[in-house]
Order: sequence, then C-alpha cells, then structure tokens
Amino acid sequence: MNHFDYVNGTLHAEGVPVTDIAARVGTPFYCYSTATLVRHYTVFAEALAKAGLDATVCFALKANSNVAVVRTLADLGAGADVVSEGELRQALKAGVPADRIVFSGVGKTRRELEFAVAKGIMQINVESEPELELLSQVAAERGVKMPIALRVNPDVDAGTHAKITTGKKENKFGIEWTRAHEVYRKARALPGVEPVAIACHIGSQLTEIEPFSAAFRRVRDLVAMLRADGFDIRHLDLGGGLGVPYDGETPPSPDVYAQAIKAELGDLGCRVVLEPGRVLVGNAGILVSRVVYMKEGSTRTFAIVDAAMNDLVRPAMYEAFHGIDPVTQPAAGAPRQPVDVVGPVCETGDTFAKQCPLPPLAAGDLVVFRTAGAYGAAMSSTYNSRPLVPEVLVDGDRFAVVRARPSFEEMAALESLPDWLE
Ligand code: LLP
Repeated sequence: MNHFDYVNGTLHAEGVPVTDIAARVGTPFYCYSTATLVRHYTVFAEALAKAGLDATVCFALKANSNVAVVRTLADLGAGADVVSEGELRQALKAGVPADRIVFSGVGKTRRELEFAVAKGIMQINVESEPELELLSQVAAERGVKMPIALRVNPDVDAGTHAKITTGKKENKFGIEWTRAHEVYRKARALPGVEPVAIACHIGSQLTEIEPFSAAFRRVRDLVAMLRADGFDIRHLDLGGGLGVPYDGETPPSPDVYAQAIKAELGDLGCRVVLEPGRVLVGNAGILVSRVVYMKEGSTRTFAIVDAAMNDLVRPAMYEAFHGIDPVTQPAAGAPRQPVDVVGPVCETGDTFAKQCPLPPLAAGDLVVFRTAGAYGAAMSSTYNSRPLVPEVLVDGDRFAVVRARPSFEEMAALESLPDWLE
C-alpha cells in the first residue's frame, strides 16, 4: 500500500504530479511520501500494541537515513537503530531521543563507543568479546555502566538472499548462541557494562514467518538459561527483517509477525525492541528518472535512463527487482514490448530490468522505479563522478527538497592536489 497513484493520467505522489517535481528538481531524484511513511509506521506499531506487547520500534536508519524521513518517523514515536557515529548523529539531529536509540554493528570503533556512551543512548548491542571489553573500558572511564545486549547468532537460516542473511554461524554477525551464556557471565564481571538484553537479527527481506519464530525460540531458551543464572534480562531486541512485496511476494503481515513474537516470547515480561527498516520505508519511496535515449539493438530494445546503478544499486548487487512504470499512464490495453532498462554507467551490471514489458517509451519520458525508499538513496554513491541524487519529501499537496543535488563544484571541493602536483 502506498500513495503513488495515477490521477488524470499522470503519476502523483500523494497530491503532487511527479512531473511537477521533475520540472523543479530535475532528474533523477528520490521521492518519498509522508502519508505512506505514516501508514506503514502506524500499521506496524498498532500490530504490536494489538498483540499486547510492550514494544519500542527503533527504525533502522541504514534503510534510509534522510533527516526528514527520520523526523517523520520520530514524530510518530519511533526510536532508532544505528550502526555508525554518522547514523547516531543523524538520529539525534532528526530529534530521536537518546533513550530510544540502540547501537548495532560488528565493528564499532572506540571513538564510536565513546560517542554513544557520552550521549547516553538506550543500549549498545555488542557483537564480539573484544568489543565487550573495549566498551566496558570506555564506559568505566566515564564512570558509566552501559546497558547492553549481546547480539546472539542463533544459527537460523532466514531463507533470503545470501548477501543479506545474517543469522547463520558462518556469518560475521553476533556471538554464537552456544557460547552466549559464557559471554554473558564475562559481561557480568566487567565494570562498565550491564547486560540487560538479548539482541538477535537473522536477515533482511524475510518472506516467511518460520525463520523468525525459530530465532525467537532460541532467544526464549537463552532467557530461561540466563534468568536461572541470576541475570535480569529486561529487553529483547528482535532486530528487523520483515520483507516487503517487490514482485508479488507475500511477506507476513505486521499482525502475523506481532502474533509470532507474542506466541514465542509474550509471557516473559520483557520489553520488546524491534529494528524494522525496509518495511517502514521501502514502499514509501520511488526513484524518478528520465529516458535519455531509446536504442534499438538487433535482439533487443534498450531504454537508457538517467538513473544508474550508483543511484539504486540493488538490481546490480542482489539481482533485485523494482517495478518500473511510466509517469504518463499508458492507455488501457496499450501494447507493451519487452525493453531492457539500463543506466549510463560503464558496466553491464548497470541494468535495472531485462525484457521488462513496457508501453512504448520515447526519449524525454519519465519513468519510476517502485519500492525504492529502503536501501536506495542510502546505498548510493558517486561512481562515474555522478552527483548523489536529490531526495524530495511530499506531504499532501506540498513537497520539499530534503537533500539537495550537490553541484560539481561542491563535489570537487573535497579533493585537492598535493603540493608536488600543483
Ligand atoms: N537490524 C540489524 C542489526 C540489521 O543488520 C538490519 C539490516 C536491520 C535491523 C534492518 O533490516 P530490515 O528491516 O530493513 O530488513 N542492503 C540490503 C539490505 C541489508 C540489510 C542489512 N541489515 C538490501 O538492499 O536489500
């Protein structure tokens, strides 16, 4: 469900014709819908409330760290899951209260830990023994006992793309669950940390409920083991991972997800922390691009658009599918022909879709890539010296540029010649 629909033959973002935004901002650009963000957050939070769970929804900024997107969610009550000092700064800038921020990630540096401890965030999710020791030292130096979770690796197959599976023991994430008890004991003996939680995240774009439930059962067993040993486990951080439909998938609904949490963990008296990313923002964004050329090959037709793999890397990186639609609504029953939609970057992988059935397109036409609100702008780069794409937020019949397109001068200003080359 989203608010990008055709009205009078033109695709609108809520009340705004996408053509109007393109005329003002130029292409390519990302466009986010406030109403869709609000809807997704509300449905997710209400599902947890309906299941009777005491839950904190910490939006995973890695999916979309634009300050206006994060502010929109924070205004609805969202906390934040961050994985770097940059994301932590971004969450604070967006107005997320520090006591609603959790810090995940396998390679937090001393500087990042110091910053997080100084800001008094809710919890740090520790992913290894060396990190545990460093964090304890950093916190003790400041006279603080930092509330922590150990992120446990439950060795459960999420059944998703190999590059976004995180909960198998051969993945780099977390502490193997078979060793977890021992590491909790070690944590208890350290001066700067207080183990109050268990964290677990098994992967992203999950489309079945069972892997979640299997991981939750492992968490449940661990709670029992730790409580029997005198640990006061108060929070369970169950990560993110709920999938969205890109190409007709039917991931579990937030209600089914919430009921699974309740069924496996609801009676433990713990506050539940969730770290959804994609499910909150994926469908709330589109990437708008213009056809530069139509090129007829001997075996196929190419639509060469002005967006590229540096702007939306998911197809190149994971063979991910993003629906493509023209901004001008095709007439009902208009003929479609298979087209390869490609970007201008000098790599064959810079292909958004192969043999995509599209109505006739011409140079200058606008097209959109759907479900691009998560891991779109957030993963973009300046490859081929292409400026980062601007981001636009729509709210009803108004819109604003919430990240400007950098000028070539601004891009160049970050580089300099050493004196011997001047
Ligand atoms: N929490 C942790 C510890 C994570 O590692 C992730 C995602 C999330 C939460 C949020 O997961 P979500 O609810 O969005 O599935 N770039 C890939 C996705 C990478 C996900 C990495 N971790 C993609 O474009 O599909």
